[in-house]
Amino acid sequence: MSEVILVLGASGQIGRELTLKLRNLYGNKNVIASDIREGSKEMIASGPFEILDATDKVAILTVINKYKVSQVYLLAAMLSATAEKYPQKAWSLNMNSLMAVLDIAKEKYIKQVYWPSSIAVFGPTTPKKNTPQHTVMEPSTVYGISKLAGEFWCNYYHEKFGVDVRSLRYPGIISWKSKPGGGTTDYAVDIFFSATEKGSYECFLSENTRLPMMYMSDAVNATIQLMKAKKEDIKIRTSYNLSAISFSPKEIATEIKKHIPDFKITYQPDFRQEIANSWPQSINDSEARKDWNWQHKFNLTLMTEEIIKNLKNKLQKEHL
Ligand code: SER
Repeated sequence: MSEVILVLGASGQIGRELTLKLRNLYGNKNVIASDIREGSKEMIASGPFEILDATDKVAILTVINKYKVSQVYLLAAMLSATAEKYPQKAWSLNMNSLMAVLDIAKEKYIKQVYWPSSIAVFGPTTPKKNTPQHTVMEPSTVYGISKLAGEFWCNYYHEKFGVDVRSLRYPGIISWKSKPGGGTTDYAVDIFFSATEKGSYECFLSENTRLPMMYMSDAVNATIQLMKAKKEDIKIRTSYNLSAISFSPKEIATEIKKHIPDFKITYQPDFRQEIANSWPQSINDSEARKDWNWQHKFNLTLMTEEIIKNLKNKLQKEHL
């Protein structure tokens, strides 16, 4: 029997691309996109779309019953930088949406849940390099606190109620089709748009701030691979470390210059610098590689080539 999937937060950076990929795999009518915001034209044209508040359990259940949903991907969240400005709002969105979906799974309306965690669960006391799966976790951001609490709720619901909830600690996710909003790793997306449109970029992190990152197609593939893995292969029910590449603004600028030789970068660190300083520089994801055969495809060079090629094409088309 084919799965029927509900994506909460389908208009966000990851939601947009994940939803379209899921529609390719499971059939358009079997993937219900939802968000509190209107969906993109492409998303509304390709399958069902519902306006939905991810914290409203009754509304979510109504949609689940309407379409006979079997899996929920909960991607609605407030990211690290915005969460520092609106701590209360971030906590209630990030936690209430998770609790609503976990309860729905506990009550057996759905069979499986996906919920992303983040490198933000780590903090200043965590070892910065090759950060292990099991280590010191003392996050200093509201976003990190919400993700760490969420991880333990996932594990609790799995242990106590048998809920099949699966999770990945995403690094910064880089895409050219959709922009992120309100994260500390957003610079690594903005830099490509600014480089191809203006030839320059003012970076809000300092030049040697190294952070773990990943190209969107790797993140989408990891997510789907995790959800398709056999239950017995999923050994970690808090959230898996997941990694692909690590770089600093200076290193990515050097890579961009190979394609846009006149590209200029300047640095004007703001409050996001402190958030970045509290996070790891690189992640050890050997458990994901061992348990369900995770492998990334894109390194920094390949990713940069791919993004710049696509953004240049897009710009050309817009100017035709
Ligand atoms: N990309 C996220 C952020 O910067 C980290 O999970 O907030």
